[in-house]
Amino acid sequence: MPKRQDIKIAPSILSADFADFGAEIRAIESQGADWVHVDVMDGHFVPNLTFGPPAVAAFRRHVTTVMDVHLMIAPVDPYIEAFAQAGADILTAHLEAGPHIHRTLQAIRAAGCKAGLALNPGTPAEAVAPLLDMVDLVCVMTVNPGFGGQSFLDLTDKVRTLRALIGDRPVHIEIDGGVTPDTAPLVAAAGADVLVTGSAVFKGGSVSDPDPYGANIRAIRKAAQGATG
Ligand code: DX5
Ligand code: ZN
Repeated sequence: MPKRQDIKIAPSILSADFADFGAEIRAIESQGADWVHVDVMDGHFVPNLTFGPPAVAAFRRHVTTVMDVHLMIAPVDPYIEAFAQAGADILTAHLEAGPHIHRTLQAIRAAGCKAGLALNPGTPAEAVAPLLDMVDLVCVMTVNPGFGGQSFLDLTDKVRTLRALIGDRPVHIEIDGGVTPDTAPLVAAAGADVLVTGSAVFKGGSVSDPDPYGANIRAIRKAAQGATG
């Protein structure tokens, strides 16, 4: 189980002002974000389109923490090198994105990034068992990927199973989708230690009034830590 101080908050810039990413990234970091989560969507694996490698490289110039790049694309392998070159610290691919996830994870580490493995809500925790020595992070999607602002799916049992499978390996469990001060304690208590949160961080604030970002981050962190203390 993660210790109190180990909860990381990773705001998703999918909920930021798309005309002002540099300022938005600086704002969330100055307001206490631990990582910056970047959602890459291809209009094929998920029904939405976002950023390619040049945009991610431009974000990198503003990130001073950790750039956590979530690839919702299929195929993945042809783009790994480009996203690594764009400056991703963590590259997360979906287990469902192709037949050769083992090869994909090898390629991510070979490109110099930490390797993340994301699971759609319908994919069981047990599916990652053969891959746990190849990953630095498992991302449990608690919405169907593609859009911010969706309702949280309660997959607490899956998170608990995953934490048991991971054992004492140094592997993060990241939760992505519908994380709020109400839902964060459920997943933190089950063993999650990285919380992606888009709409619940950006709501009420802006680059010219970023204090609400900080209040939102602190509220989520406090709720999560209360569940792990
Ligand atoms: C969904 C994305 C998430 C999303 C989270 O496909 O992977 O990162 O931005 O947004 P919220 O926190 O609003 O559910
Ligand atoms: Zn994401």
